[in-house]
Amino acid sequence: MPDLPPTTRRSVLGGALAGGLLAATSSTTAAATERDDVVPARKPGQKSMIGVPFEEHDVVRIGLIGLGNRGMGMLPGWAAVPGAQITAVCDIRADRAKKAADQLVELGKDRPAEYGGSADSYRKLVSSSDVDFVYVATPWEFHYEHGRAALLAGKHVGVELPIATELHQLWSLVDTSERMRKHLFLMENCSYSRNELAMLRMAHEGLFGDITNGHGGYLHDLRELLFSPTYYTDAWRRKWHMRSIASLYPMHGLAPIAACMDINRGDRFVTLRATSTEPKGLYDYRERFIPKDDPIWDETYINGDLVTCLLETEKGRIVRAEHDVSSPRPYSRINSLAGSRGLVEDYVGDGESGARAYFEPDHSGHTWRSFDSYRDKFDHWLWKKVGDNPDNPGGHGGMDYVLQWRIVQQMRAGLVPDIDVYDSAVWCSAVPLSAMSLERGGRPVKVPDFTRGHWAKSRPGLDSPESDMPPVR
Ligand SMILES: NC(=O)c1ccc[n+]([C@@H]2O[C@H](COP(=O)([O-])OP(=O)(O)OC[C@H]3O[C@@H](n4cnc5c(N)ncnc54)[C@H](O)[C@@H]3O)[C@@H](O)[C@H]2O)c1
Repeated sequence: MPDLPPTTRRSVLGGALAGGLLAATSSTTAAATERDDVVPARKPGQKSMIGVPFEEHDVVRIGLIGLGNRGMGMLPGWAAVPGAQITAVCDIRADRAKKAADQLVELGKDRPAEYGGSADSYRKLVSSSDVDFVYVATPWEFHYEHGRAALLAGKHVGVELPIATELHQLWSLVDTSERMRKHLFLMENCSYSRNELAMLRMAHEGLFGDITNGHGGYLHDLRELLFSPTYYTDAWRRKWHMRSIASLYPMHGLAPIAACMDINRGDRFVTLRATSTEPKGLYDYRERFIPKDDPIWDETYINGDLVTCLLETEKGRIVRAEHDVSSPRPYSRINSLAGSRGLVEDYVGDGESGARAYFEPDHSGHTWRSFDSYRDKFDHWLWKKVGDNPDNPGGHGGMDYVLQWRIVQQMRAGLVPDIDVYDSAVWCSAVPLSAMSLERGGRPVKVPDFTRGHWAKSRPGLDSPESDMPPVR
């Protein structure tokens, strides 16, 4: 096992530009100096976006920014959704925009406008009058800039995880959405996964009794991809492990648990405290697999392998959210929820669902049962209608298309989005707040109320009834 190089581990997001290796980004160095407990006042004319429907669209015209692994992976889904049309594509690398446009023509679609070649090409896409909805799939350090620009250009926008990496940026996105009267939300596909949606319905049906705690995470061995010379463009994701000690990407596991606890819809996160293990995984991988003359050997990794956030809610519930992408392990989002009447534990390999359950009065005798029959019984209508549909290109087990279909149909029908800017901001606040907590020796920091007081009211979200959805044309 290699020794750690002599470096100060700093938890400041955007702080340690290790060895000058990071490309210039729009991200600022703020986490350590930001206040966790300040709720900025609304500016005159700014109003909540809670419950605000989309305006109706006959066809939803979509512009894509960022055409790497994720952007290109989502392209067939956007192209397949009824009533969606990709009218514009953009990547800083113009050849990627051309490739995306070519692929759409091969799929029998109209050729979209192509933008690319410079760092601000995205500005032309967001200001195009042929775009209603912008999808951002660029590296994390650009999400805030791209998402905010789309809002300011009067577009609705879906941003890959996280919508921003700093607390002041999250507030800025909330404020800009409220001012521009346009929605910005996280493209949180795992919230649409089959087990997660069934679990949400069960939570609302009362099967768990009083929900007391939940665990989620993003545990994905990305070491090979992080060190791949071709996978992440310019190794942007590995560079985040040189700049921050933070839970960089916990939202896939945190968001579904937050939904089951009605966060922003009856409860809210009040504090977060974080722990971090030492960074060992990337050093160990480099030692074993990277030639000694590779410039990668100049790099210093500071982020811990396992960063854990412990969040407490107003109602006294506890959520543990994990992040680990640098250790050897099979994939897991943990996805476990417990209450006074029983619990579910996902990713344990049982049955078709891979999950196990134990509920009173159905079960007794301290013996686990399969989750499969519950998943069948509480299967969300979106899965019966869209998840299993032959049009579904199947990305990430089909949940990507469920998300894409749902966004487009809600925009066509003029409905309120399932996920709003407040949900997105609070889930993503775990990124800067974990950095702050670690910077303060693991002490709890306050989780801002991005709803500015509207968190306590029950309202619909991901657990939508099919009856709310008009027939799809
Ligand atoms: N929700 C999910 O399941 C999921 C899965 C994978 C990735 N992601 C997210 O998608 C995003 C992209 O990840 P990826 O794996 O595709 O990375 P990638 O490196 O493959 O792609 C990023 C693309 O953005 C482009 N880009 C960079 N700066 C740009 C700019 N200023 N203007 C336009 N284009 C620019 C790059 O040229 C590249 O093509 C990340 O936020 C990642 O976390 C989400």
